[in-house]
Amino acid sequence: MNQTGKTHVKQGIDAPLVPILYLITGVGVLINWAMAHAYPTAWVTLIFGIVMFAGGLTFFHTSLRGKYTIWRGIMDKLTIPKNAQVLDLGCGHGAVMIAFAKRLGVTGHATGIDLWQQRDQSNNGVAQTQANLVAENVADRTTVLTGDMTKLPTNNAAFDFVVSSFAFHNIKPKEHRAVALSEAVRTLKPGGRLIIVDTEHNDREYRMALQDLGLKDIEVKSAGFNGWWSGPWMSSYIVQGVKAE
Ligand SMILES: C[S@@+](CC[C@H](N)C(=O)[O-])C[C@H]1O[C@@H](n2cnc3c(N)ncnc32)[C@H](O)[C@@H]1O
Repeated sequence: MNQTGKTHVKQGIDAPLVPILYLITGVGVLINWAMAHAYPTAWVTLIFGIVMFAGGLTFFHTSLRGKYTIWRGIMDKLTIPKNAQVLDLGCGHGAVMIAFAKRLGVTGHATGIDLWQQRDQSNNGVAQTQANLVAENVADRTTVLTGDMTKLPTNNAAFDFVVSSFAFHNIKPKEHRAVALSEAVRTLKPGGRLIIVDTEHNDREYRMALQDLGLKDIEVKSAGFNGWWSGPWMSSYIVQGVKAE
């Protein structure tokens, strides 16, 4: 993603089975309605088909455009020192770490960590992400590591920004997410900022866990339409907090 939000790299679709199922269901229901709609509740079938079809398209929008817009909005409000050290948890194809790296100078660095799970993002893999870093001209200030967010292979207090885009909800159960949150805070420098963008209605859980971990200035807000994974029933939120000095 460049400063205008355009990306030149292969991105992958998040949870690829979900939008495909929405579209198949929508088309199937709409064909069914078109073939026989002379019954009193046919309008319900029609609306259901439209909602499913539109949900699939909205999911693709969020995966391919919306989440980039969300992160650009977040980053435009931050002061990012040129020498900042950034850690992207569950980096996938590198969307967020690339965006940060483009705002860093030669002494700054962005590190991405992932387990490369195919079910969470299509064509996920370290080689693809490395290729994206080269294609976006940030290979000199980025590193990708294979690792688990619940057991980070990174030092204590090493990063000015620890960020994560739609990765925490993939960790199950809740107790494992709590471990991953404490790992994220461990690796933040005092005064460093944690920024999580996520879905699946875990925002209250994250806020409480981060309060318990001693973060201050915790903010939780909705990510709006750009974070709809099909519709408002599967929306997204932005959680931020600062590690005490
Ligand atoms: C939906 S993708 C989002 C990828 C990227 N952050 C983005 O916004 O495009 C979620 C990513 O989290 C990774 N992931 C899930 N659980 C993980 C874990 N325990 N440790 C590291 N990465 C994990 C998946 O492999 C996947 O790449």
